[in-house]
Amino acid sequence: MQIKPIKLTSKSKKIVDKTNRYVVKGTFTYPLVIKSGKSVFIQDVDNNWYLDFNSNVCSANIGYNHPEIAKVLKEYCSSSAHKIAGQDFYSEEQMKMAEKLIKITPSNLTKVFLSNSGAEAMENSIKFAYRKKGPLSGISCTGAFHGRTLGALTYTFSKPVQKKNYPELPHIRINFCTSDSDPKIDDIKDLLAKRKVAFVMTEIVQGEGGYNIASQKFIRNLRETTREYDVPLIIDEVQSGIGRTGKWWAFENYNIKPDIIGSAKSLQIGATISSKEYDPNEAGAVSSTWGGGDRIDLAVGLKMIEVIEKEKLISKASKTGKYILSRLKELENVYPDKVFNARGLGLMLAIDLQSTEIRDKVEERAFRNGLLLLGCGSKSIRIVPPLIINEEEVDMGIRILESAIKKIN
Ligand SMILES: Cc1ncc(COP(=O)(O)O)c(C=O)c1O
Repeated sequence: MQIKPIKLTSKSKKIVDKTNRYVVKGTFTYPLVIKSGKSVFIQDVDNNWYLDFNSNVCSANIGYNHPEIAKVLKEYCSSSAHKIAGQDFYSEEQMKMAEKLIKITPSNLTKVFLSNSGAEAMENSIKFAYRKKGPLSGISCTGAFHGRTLGALTYTFSKPVQKKNYPELPHIRINFCTSDSDPKIDDIKDLLAKRKVAFVMTEIVQGEGGYNIASQKFIRNLRETTREYDVPLIIDEVQSGIGRTGKWWAFENYNIKPDIIGSAKSLQIGATISSKEYDPNEAGAVSSTWGGGDRIDLAVGLKMIEVIEKEKLISKASKTGKYILSRLKELENVYPDKVFNARGLGLMLAIDLQSTEIRDKVEERAFRNGLLLLGCGSKSIRIVPPLIINEEEVDMGIRILESAIKKIN
């Protein structure tokens, strides 16, 4: 696929303008109106093609129009009960998805609750913990993002705009440590010695907060201390899960077993996966009409996991991630006053630019030249292509990124 500078016509402009007229302001980044996709490329309604370096925010781990997924979608076109009340009635798709999730998680995690989104996956992780521990404070980290529903939002600390005027549950914030020598790395020990809490919750690689990668010692400390005080450790794998970091789950890079995890995005649905100890195990304690009820999304999500296994995309993510990191470090060397802090875990990578304004300009320039990037934190750009990307396609994207960076003055 050749990527050329894009030309937007009145077709995409009309859709963008009408959307802005009728739809509440969300987090729209640039005027991309998606029509279709193929492999690691996306086509807009004006027939421009883009190389996708953000995977719809880590939601398209096997890219677009994969033949196995197309087959699944075809099978469902004649089903007239494709969306059911999934926690009131049974379906084979929910059973298979739950069984698969239990197979790809550590053996202490034995029960699955399905929902619609990442926020719901985390909201229900929080509810599982509260059900057992009672309404105490929950602990999360500076820079965390766990979603925007009110419960999950309490424990989100990535940007003030996400929180203004919204009420909160009782919470305590600890420092998210990216270095083993962070002076606050042992704070959790003092805290849990003094206070009873309902849970500790964290990402392994902070997503919206700026692609900050947790230090090994920090995560080990959280696991050891929560175990010592019988507090559930919840790991948010909404963005980092399903093979992205070179393992099924990012926490596997840290050799720990959480008590509860939340997954979504690439899974197509939300999932809270829990140990027996935190399974509420009481009819009506948690439920949802559409949770576990979108049979197409369930079948697509399941097939996507099978494709990742069949095509060995987890080891590929690890290998390609190393290659991209070396290319990002080259940019850092060539442009030492423009590009900083190249970092990554598997295919979850980022660089920092000088400021928010410059980051946004680079993102916009890359878009105009057919590369889809996405910012995070205050001045970072994340590089999270589909797991199927090859090195030639990586080079194509890095060329466009570099030319956007070069124009910074
Ligand atoms: C780590 C993390 N948790 C939770 C969420 C919320 O997911 P959703 O937007 O599907 O509600 C996100 C979304 O970006 C996320 O990155």
